[in-house]
Amino acid sequence: MARMAISIPFLGLIFLCSFATLISGGRHGTYMKYKDPKQRIRVRVQDLLQRMTIEEKIGQMTQIERVNATQKVMRKYSIGSVLSGGGSAPAKHASPKQWLQMTNKIQRASLTTRLGIPMIYGIDAVHGHNNVYKATIFPHNVGLGVTRDAYLVKRIGAATALEVRATGIPYAFAPCIAVCRDPRWGRCYESYSEDHKIVQMMTEIIPGLQGDVPSKLRGTPFVAGKTKVAACAKHFVGDGGTVKGINENDTIVSSTELYNIHMPAYKDSIAKGVATVMASYSSLKGVKMHGNHKMLTSYLKNKLGFKGFVISDWQALDKMTYPPHSNYTYSVQASILAGVDMVMVPYNYTEFIDILTDLVNKKVIPMSRINDAVRRILRVKFSMGLFEDPIADKSLVKKLGCKKHRELAREAVRKSLVLLKNGKSVREPLLPLPKKAPKILVAGTHADNLGYQCGGWTIEWQGRSGNNLTAGTTILKAIKKTVDCSTKVVFKENPDSDYVKSHNFSYAIVVVGELPYAETMGDNKNLTLPKPGPEVIQNVCRSIKCVVVIVSGRPLVIEKYVPEVDALVAAWLPGSEGQGVADVLFGDYGFTGKLARTWFKRVDQLPMNVGDPHYDPLFPFGFGLETKPVSNH
Ligand SMILES: *[C@@H]1O[C@H](CO)[C@@H](O)[C@H](O)[C@H]1NC(C)=O
Ligand SMILES: *[C@@H]1O[C@H](CO)[C@@H](O)[C@H](O)[C@H]1NC(C)=O
Ligand SMILES: *[C@@H]1O[C@H](CO)[C@@H](O)[C@H](O)[C@H]1NC(C)=O
Ligand SMILES: *[C@@H]1O[C@H](CO)[C@@H](O)[C@H](O)[C@H]1NC(C)=O
Ligand SMILES: *[C@@H]1O[C@H](CO)[C@@H](O)[C@H](O)[C@H]1NC(C)=O
Ligand SMILES: *[C@@H]1O[C@H](CO)[C@@H](O)[C@H](O)[C@H]1NC(C)=O
Ligand SMILES: *[C@@H]1O[C@H](CO)[C@@H](O)[C@H](O)[C@H]1NC(C)=O
Repeated sequence: MARMAISIPFLGLIFLCSFATLISGGRHGTYMKYKDPKQRIRVRVQDLLQRMTIEEKIGQMTQIERVNATQKVMRKYSIGSVLSGGGSAPAKHASPKQWLQMTNKIQRASLTTRLGIPMIYGIDAVHGHNNVYKATIFPHNVGLGVTRDAYLVKRIGAATALEVRATGIPYAFAPCIAVCRDPRWGRCYESYSEDHKIVQMMTEIIPGLQGDVPSKLRGTPFVAGKTKVAACAKHFVGDGGTVKGINENDTIVSSTELYNIHMPAYKDSIAKGVATVMASYSSLKGVKMHGNHKMLTSYLKNKLGFKGFVISDWQALDKMTYPPHSNYTYSVQASILAGVDMVMVPYNYTEFIDILTDLVNKKVIPMSRINDAVRRILRVKFSMGLFEDPIADKSLVKKLGCKKHRELAREAVRKSLVLLKNGKSVREPLLPLPKKAPKILVAGTHADNLGYQCGGWTIEWQGRSGNNLTAGTTILKAIKKTVDCSTKVVFKENPDSDYVKSHNFSYAIVVVGELPYAETMGDNKNLTLPKPGPEVIQNVCRSIKCVVVIVSGRPLVIEKYVPEVDALVAAWLPGSEGQGVADVLFGDYGFTGKLARTWFKRVDQLPMNVGDPHYDPLFPFGFGLETKPVSNH
C-alpha cells in the first residue's frame, strides 16, 4: 500500500512529462502551441508559420508526384504535398493495404522533419476512387446531373470519401463544377450540366466528401475528421466555356456570362466549406487563369472570401508559356503573384523550388505572398485534423468497393438513364422489356465491356477497353442476371443482318457508344457515333424490334438513326454497376431521368444551350420519357 501511495503520483508525473515532450518539439523543452489541438486554428497557424524557414515554407507550396516522393526527398525539401497522377498507383492492381503502406511511409518521412508538418496526399477521385483497383466506379458527372438528386450525389461523396480514406488518402481533386457549354470539349462528361443551376445543386457532393460545415463555420474550409476528405472545386473559372470546346483554350465570354453561368457554383462551394480550389488551364479573354490575379486574388479570395488554398493543375505552370516550359521563371513568378498557393509541379520539383526561392530572395515575390500561401495550406491541414491523425490505420480498408457503395452506384445508374424514344408509336411502347422471351439478342461493342462503360479516368488516365481492368458488372452480365431463367440470351458484338433475321429473336438490345478518353484526347469536332456503332444499329434494328442504349460522355449526332430504332436510351458513362441499366430496361424500376444537356442535331449548331435564341434541338434540355415499374413479370 505504501509503495502504491508513492508510485501513483510518480506515474502521474511521468505521464505529464511525456505529454509535455510530445507537444513540445523536445529539443528545448519549450511548449509548441501549434502542436496543441486545444489552441484555435488561427493561433496554431501563426505559431507554426513564425517558426518556419523560407525553405520549409516553399516546401509546403510544392506538390510532387508519388514516384518522386522518396523519404529522402520529402525530408530534404520539406515537401508539403504528394499526389497520384491519373493511373499512378504503387503497383498494378495494388490493394488498399498497399496504398496505405505507401502513403504512411511518405507521411512518416514528413513527420520526421524539423517541425513535423504532415504532408497532404491528393488524388483524382472524380467518379469514385477511380485510380484504385476494385473501387466502386460511380457514373461520371454527366449522368449524375440527369438525376437532379442532390442527396444522391451527397451520398456518393460520402462513399467516395470512405473509399479514398481506405487507401490512406485525405484529399480528392473533386468535384469538377465546370458548366460545359460545348460538348465538343473532351471533359464535358466531368460536368454535371450545361445549366449552372444543376451544377450548383450538385455541389452537395462537397458536404458528402468533407462533412456538413457547422453553420458558424460556413464559408471556411472544413473537413470533418478521419472518414472525410478535403475536396477541390475545379477548374476556376470558365473551363467549360472555351472556344469551340477546345480543351485548355480561351474562354471569351461577357462578364454577365462569366458571373451568371460559370461562377455561381463556386459561391456555393465556398459556403459549403470547400477546402481547395484548382485553377483552370484555360484562359479568360486571353489571360491564362494561372496568372490571373484579378480572378484568383481580387475575386476568389478577396471578394468571395475563399480561405482555403488555390492549387495549380498538373504541369499547368509549364503550359503558361508557348512553347510549354519556355520560361519557367516567368511561370512561377506570374502564378504565385496571381494567387496560386500550391503548385502541382509534379516531377521537376528542384527546378520549381530553386526558381521560387530565387524570386523570393530577389524580392520579386514578397514574403507576404509566401506567408499567405503557407497560412492557407496550414489552415486546411489543421482544420482537417491532419496534425492529430496523420497516419492511416486499416479500419476502413473493407469499405473499398463494398456492397453498400455498389448498391448506391447502381441506384445512381438507374436514375441517370434518359429514355429518349419508346416505341414506333405511343400505343406500342417497347420498354419495359419482357423478362420472359424464348430468345433475345444482345449486340454492340459496349454491351460486354466494363472499360467502355466506365470511360476515362478509370484505373488509367484515359481509361481502356476490356473486362479485366477492375471489378464490376457489364450490361450484358446484368441482362443475363435479370431475365427469366428460361430466356436465352445470345450475345453477338457485330452481327450481320442475315444472322439477325434468321434466328427468330424476340427483340434485341444494342449497346454502342464512344470509346474511353480524357481531357484533350476527348476533344471531338464531329461527335459522330464511332464505328461499328451505326452498322450494328442498322443490321439489328432494320430486322427486329430493338432498343439502342448509347454509352457516351455527351450527346452524339444520332438524328438519322432515331426513326430506325424502336426505343432509345442515353446511359452516359454508368461506371462499374451495369446492373442499374438492366434494372430499368426490364422495369424493376421506372425511367425518371431528364436531360441535363441539350441533345443537338448537328455539330454546326454548337454551341447551343437551353435558353439560347435559336434553340432547335433533337431532344431539348429537360426531356426524358418515363415508364412505371412493373411488378411480377
Ligand atoms: C486555342 O486553340 C488554338 C487552336 O488550337 C490555338 O492556336 C490557341 O493558341 C489556343 N489558345 C489558347 C489560349 O490556348
Ligand atoms: C522570363 O521571364 C522573366 C520573368 O517574367 C523575365 O524577366 C525574363 O526576361 C524572361 N526570359 C526570357 C528569356 O524571356
Ligand atoms: C521525378 O521522377 C521522374 C520519373 O521517375 C524523373 O524523371 C524525374 O527526374 C524526377 N524528378 C527529379 C527532380 O528528380
Ligand atoms: C528540370 O529542371 C532543370 C533546371 O532546373 C532543367 O535543366 C531540366 O531540363 C528540367 N527537366 C525536365 C524534365 O523538364
Ligand atoms: C487484360 O486485358 C488486356 C486487354 O484486353 C490484356 O492485354 C491483358 O493481358 C489482360 N490482363 C490480365 C491480367 O488478364
Ligand atoms: C419463333 O418464335 C416464336 C415465338 O417467339 C415461335 O412461335 C415460332 O415458332 C418460332 N419460329 C421458329 C422458326 O423457330
Ligand atoms: C471524329 O473526330 C474524332 C476525334 O477527333 C476522330 O477520331 C474521328 O475519326 C472523327 N470521325 C469522323 C467520322 O470524322
